[in-house]
Amino acid sequence: MDITAHNTVFVPGATSGIGLELALALRAEGNTVVIGGRRADLLESIAAEHPDIGTVVVDTTDPASVEAAAEDVLSRYPELNVLIAMAGIMRVEDWHRPETFLDSAESVITTNVLGPIRLIAAFVEHFRRRPDATIVTVSSGLAFTPLAATPSYNASKAAVHQLSESLRLQLADTSVSVVEIVPPAVRTSLLPGQESSEFAMPLDEYVSEVVELMRTRPNAKEILVERVELLRHAEARGDYADVVAAINAADPHGT
Ligand SMILES: NC(=O)c1ccc[n+]([C@@H]2O[C@H](COP(=O)([O-])OP(=O)(O)OC[C@H]3O[C@@H](n4cnc5c(N)ncnc54)[C@H](OP(=O)(O)O)[C@@H]3O)[C@@H](O)[C@H]2O)c1
Repeated sequence: MDITAHNTVFVPGATSGIGLELALALRAEGNTVVIGGRRADLLESIAAEHPDIGTVVVDTTDPASVEAAAEDVLSRYPELNVLIAMAGIMRVEDWHRPETFLDSAESVITTNVLGPIRLIAAFVEHFRRRPDATIVTVSSGLAFTPLAATPSYNASKAAVHQLSESLRLQLADTSVSVVEIVPPAVRTSLLPGQESSEFAMPLDEYVSEVVELMRTRPNAKEILVERVELLRHAEARGDYADVVAAINAADPHGT
């Protein structure tokens, strides 16, 4: 994805955190940006502060909401050529006790796996008609090296990784590229306390590195900042067991 090419980008999951920071950075690079999320009050205040950013209320756990948002975005921005499926949630779960984790697991899988699938389904035909389009997925270092505290989250992000790999193969004969962003722990409100976690990367530093990677490696399949390499390539390096032990000892709550 060439971020200097004046793309039109939709980021569902940009009322806060990585999505918002990345949306603002892409806009600063000259792209047209539309953001989405459930919190209409945040969308309103972001639009008031940045009047050139489009907004749409969307709940990616609701198929009708995704369909309505896609229709709305495509009618206002027919030149749309980038989807960044950012919306996601993370939950700490205790799998010793099903009554405590089952609801959480279902929400995590619905949001983190079905959400991107529904979004991609809503945009892929439009993208295939564009001369150059990109589907950006968002996995996690935890897709590759698990944190004991968040089993459904780790599994959901491993699913996003494989979905990205498979889609890239299927869409190889089209104008649509698939790029996977693989964040390390970043200081956002994804989990309580994470915004000030010493284990997490400052949000502005993370997004600057992401934008720099996108700018310098426009053909990259994965956006891997230096901090995520430890988790991403542990198995290939042969130190997977050590890295699993280290991240779980250092950060038992996933922050
Ligand atoms: N921060 C990290 O350490 C980290 C690491 C690896 C991967 N990630 C991934 O990065 C992505 C962004 O997370 P973040 O860290 O920036 O956390 P965040 O600040 O909590 O942002 C999550 C975003 O997703 C949106 N969202 C959640 N559920 C949604 C739904 N059902 N429908 C529409 N939007 C929904 C939220 O908006 P509303 O609440 O307004 O709907 C919010 O804008 C997530 O996919 C996360 O898994 C984060």
